[in-house]
Amino acid sequence: MSIHIGANKGDIAETILLPGDPLRAKWIAETFFENPVCFNEVRGMLGYTGTYQGKRISVMGTGMGVPSISIYAHELITQFDVKNLIRVGSAGSYQEHIKIRDVVLAMAASSNSGLNEQRFGGADYAPTANFELFNKAIEAAKEKNIPIKAGNIFTSDEFYADDFESYKKWSKFGVLCVEMETAGLYTVAAKHNVNALTILTISDSLVTGEKTTSKERETTFKDMIEIAIEIA
Ligand code: ADE
Repeated sequence: MSIHIGANKGDIAETILLPGDPLRAKWIAETFFENPVCFNEVRGMLGYTGTYQGKRISVMGTGMGVPSISIYAHELITQFDVKNLIRVGSAGSYQEHIKIRDVVLAMAASSNSGLNEQRFGGADYAPTANFELFNKAIEAAKEKNIPIKAGNIFTSDEFYADDFESYKKWSKFGVLCVEMETAGLYTVAAKHNVNALTILTISDSLVTGEKTTSKERETTFKDMIEIAIEIA
């Protein structure tokens, strides 16, 4: 058991899918895994291990924001020997050509996170995706005929920005979309020399104001999970 995960050593697979929402984790386990077993209920952050086409795989919620995902990633890696961490989440588009329902791979994550600013004494660090996982995701998407966008994303410490227009600076510099966890995940994975990748579905657009319905989110989420589970 670690401080925030009530599992025993060996309960969690080497590869784990990480949605923000613990109920999404439950849905993924019940929809895609064979024989899922719940390994964590601490703080309601549900985690499951099962198999997919004979391979052992886990899924667990991370909560929202860099501090929350950093805690879970740290414990999964250092206490439970997890080697491949694949975030599956939603994001808001910063670009006209990134449409709602698009699937985006995060090659790198720019951020206003206080955590990395503190860690690197105000210097810039570029949290990046693992190359092998990234390549596998591209291959899996091609095989499934799921179109993919990839590039720099933004990990924000706030969902409700005081200055809504501030996103335009990032947009101008080619950042594709905004979410709240990837810079933390990629940094913790790099620190411990393990692999991480974020796959996102665009749920809303800051450019057009459009939003997906919850039904649409469910369908598009499936595309993303199918890529994630295939590379696992
Ligand atoms: N996740 C999904 N949409 C988002 C947005 N607009 N800002 C931050 N995180 C998000």
